[in-house]
Amino acid sequence: MDVRGLNRRFSRELRAALERVMDGGQLILGPEVDSFERAFADYCETTHCVGVGSGLDALHLILRAMNIGAGDEVIVPSYTCTATWLAVTHCGASPVPVEPRCDTFNLDPDLLERSITARTRAVIAVHLYGQPADMDAILSVARARNIKVIEDAAQAHGARYKGRRVGSLGDAAAFSFYPTKNLGALGDGGAVTTGDAALAERIRLLRNYGSASRNRCQSAGFNSRLDELQAAFLSVKLAFLDRDNDRRRMLAARLVEHTAFPGLVLPRVPSWAEPVWHLFVVRHPLRDELMRGLRERGIATMIHYPVSPHLQEAYAGSPPAGMTLPMAERLQGETLSLPLHPGMSVEDVDLVAGALRDSMVALASAEEGL
Ligand SMILES: Cc1ncc(COP(=O)(O)O)c(C=O)c1O
Repeated sequence: MDVRGLNRRFSRELRAALERVMDGGQLILGPEVDSFERAFADYCETTHCVGVGSGLDALHLILRAMNIGAGDEVIVPSYTCTATWLAVTHCGASPVPVEPRCDTFNLDPDLLERSITARTRAVIAVHLYGQPADMDAILSVARARNIKVIEDAAQAHGARYKGRRVGSLGDAAAFSFYPTKNLGALGDGGAVTTGDAALAERIRLLRNYGSASRNRCQSAGFNSRLDELQAAFLSVKLAFLDRDNDRRRMLAARLVEHTAFPGLVLPRVPSWAEPVWHLFVVRHPLRDELMRGLRERGIATMIHYPVSPHLQEAYAGSPPAGMTLPMAERLQGETLSLPLHPGMSVEDVDLVAGALRDSMVALASAEEGL
């Protein structure tokens, strides 16, 4: 991921945004945040957007605004960024993991029902790697039981599910604008989108000390505001998001076309999904050897995620400690994120595909030699 190169493409516009904010003098909760919130709600085809400090805060504040807390359970995917789970823990509720499907990496709706108890208040559906989760299947189970559905769209800005934008599909959605995301700030940032005006209003309070006006504190809130400068930068970059996502799609299609090697499992895209390829993740049982082979051929890769949340130190000794989550544990040993970002050329993708082919051949002959 070449963050510097990607931001340089907008150097002039970003510098103009910096000058505008600096000269305007208002640095917190001003016109830039208002204008970005309107634009991002429109982009997500929903009615409300509230800018907050990060993606984790967006999830946390949604749960708080839904009055979810101690004694409550929230269903989360077993295989996700640990931040999804942390949001639940931060409001005193318990994360209840549900395993993903191994082909799409997203929460398996067929396993949802059996994890619901009388204490279940919400499900967080993560659109992992930029591919939407099967929202209708999740919503139909949740709606029948009065359980809220929250989208974790931190990796999926602009993706569509059955033609509709993520961020507009559940009761509320959380976005991250961490610099490497499809829509990334030049620092931390996040947002909540929702069609629920009352929920949006509660989150507006919670992000600003629980205070709607100076010297009044209506609820025990936090300080988690998207700042004016990041909002101004994000407005610049939002205008290019669709173009960047289209490029990711084109590069991903080329990767798929040139990496159909036996033994390498490519990501599956259901017919209803329009992913935005935040990450291009393949699977291989000898993932570490493959990663080494690619590194030797000059190709950097990463693992998202080498340690599932339930195996993190933070969750040792608390439920679901001791629970076996075989799919999450299998994925953490097999997934490999190949390079893919809109600054790459077709030749770059071909280099990755070529190095992958050579690494696979070397792996196969090493196995034969054993
Ligand atoms: C799926 C998912 N959820 C939540 C987050 C948290 O976002 P942030 O880093 O902005 O707190 C991330 C960020 O990496 C993420 O990938």
